[in-house]
Amino acid sequence: MRKVEIKTTTYEYDSLQELNESEQILIKKSKEAVKNAYAPYSKFNVGAAVLLENGEIITGTNQENAAYPSGLCAERVAIFYANSKYPDVAIKSLAVTAFYNEEYIENPLPPCGACRQVIVESETRFKKPIKIYLVSKEKITVIEDAKSLLPLNFDENFLGD
Ligand code: THU
Repeated sequence: MRKVEIKTTTYEYDSLQELNESEQILIKKSKEAVKNAYAPYSKFNVGAAVLLENGEIITGTNQENAAYPSGLCAERVAIFYANSKYPDVAIKSLAVTAFYNEEYIENPLPPCGACRQVIVESETRFKKPIKIYLVSKEKITVIEDAKSLLPLNFDENFLGD
């Protein structure tokens, strides 16, 4: 038996001013996006913003449904839209924010497992890491890539040639 430890490194920032201008813009876009969420059931409004290699920022919000499992998280809405609009352009970074009970959430929102899988797929597809910013009222948590959030991930390598 061998014990194998897997570590995840995150970076925490206490204010937006500690980040550079393009990071601040991306984060602001994710915060603005929450107002476009369609979350009548959970009332948990999530905004995601992705920065593409061509400099464009695309936002997405969670889209809920009366048939609950038919809804989709903000991260996947943004990524699928970005990859549909620009199938050849890599995503450089992603910011996610949530607004609940009339305020931005206290602690950064960690993307769900399905979203992590989708972010990893986009990294694999373009062979580029996607830097992730998890934004809350108090702080911003930064992760260098989605693979760090989803170690031991399933990817194309398991599917033969
Ligand atoms: N949600 C997201 O959009 N992103 C996440 O990372 C976690 C959860 C959405 C799904 C659902 O509409 C609501 O938040 C409550 O789970």
